[in-house]
This record gives sequence, C-alpha cells and structure tokens, in this order.
Amino acid sequence: MKFFVDTANVSEIRELNDLGLIDGVTTNPSLILKSGRDITEVTAEICSIVEGPVSAEVTATDFETMMREGRTLAKIADNICIKLPLTLDGLKACRALTGDGFKTNVTLCFSANQALLAAKAGATFISPFIGRLDDIAIDGMDLIREIRQIYDNYDFRTEILAASIRTVNHVKEAALIGADVATVPAATIKALVKHPLTDKGLDQFLADWAKTGQTIG
Ligand code: G3P
Repeated sequence: MKFFVDTANVSEIRELNDLGLIDGVTTNPSLILKSGRDITEVTAEICSIVEGPVSAEVTATDFETMMREGRTLAKIADNICIKLPLTLDGLKACRALTGDGFKTNVTLCFSANQALLAAKAGATFISPFIGRLDDIAIDGMDLIREIRQIYDNYDFRTEILAASIRTVNHVKEAALIGADVATVPAATIKALVKHPLTDKGLDQFLADWAKTGQTIG
C-alpha cells in the first residue's frame, strides 16, 4: 500500500520524505488555508520535495472553470494530480483531464455508486472519506470494502486512495482490505511505529548491553 501524507505543511512533508516513508501528498482547500500560504507557492515547494503524485484541488464547481483551474494547477509541476469533487461537473472534468493525460483524484466520495462513476470517468485515484462516515455512525471501512469488490469485479484501473484517515486502525484496515493508497496525517503516520513493548524491549536490551561494558567498533 502506498502512503501519501495528507497535509500542506512543508516541514511535515520534508521530515517524512527524509524517512523514505511517503509516496505522495494530498492537499485540499482546507489544508491550504491551514498552511497560511499561497496555493501555487506551497504546492510548487511540495512538488519539489516529493517525487510522487501531489494532489492539488480545483475550487470551481462548473466544468469550464474546473478545466481552466485544473490546467493551471497542472502547470505547477509534472507530478501534479488534479483533485476534483465528486459531482457531475467534476466527473466530466475528470474524464476530459484524464483524456488529456493528466492524473486525476476524485474526492469527497461517500458511496460505492459514486466510486463506480469515478472509475467510469477514468479517475486515476478515488478518495473515499472514512473518518467523515465514522463521524455520522456509518462504518467508513465498509465503503472501502465495497469499492474494492466493485473495482475488482470489473478490473477498473482507478486506485483506491483511502482518505479522511484518523487512526492507525484505519490504516491497518485499509491495508487489510487492499486499498492501493492511504493518505494519512503526518502524526498518524508517525504513530504507526509506536508500540509499548517495542519501547520496553529496547530499554531492556540497552540496559543489559550497558552491563556488558562492551562497545561495538
Ligand atoms: O484527504 C481528505 C482529508 O484531508 C479529510 O480529512 O479528517 O477533514 O475528514 P478530515
């Protein structure tokens, strides 16, 4: 499973990229607001740090303006992936932009039927939002399961990009189901490494090693 980091915070991206842990980045208008920076400047900097796909979202809701904004975003860097909302205009723009050779990420997906339409529109990625379904007492992982089954039934090439991930269990479950990508907040990526028994075991190893009085090299 590929890991994208879900942030427009450049220092978070640099830290995780240096660890070799991320395969791409996803942003959205809310994350751009949170960054406090100009979308073109921050997206260009992100694209210069990470080799993999960097999702940048259009803000228009009509097809023509989505196309214009998408092409503008795509000029920022070669690894831009144009993010489009799951609406009829967004699906129309997805088909057109994909047809023009751009990577596309259809976002704000909350149903299997929406994901089916995105695959038929030729989306590179589909972004089902797990956490926001959980927030309304619907199991977001069920949506990932349904999309995986439908995409496998028809050998759709669209990659499932599990989004709105809030916990390390979301990451595990997405991997067990077979999502192609998980886009994860930086803190949650770092939390994946933590286990109390690992910490306890390392402390014991180091304490015992100190008693040997030895050094390596
Ligand atoms: O990639 C989508 C993600 O940023 C949304 O996350 O926690 O606002 O639902 P959240």
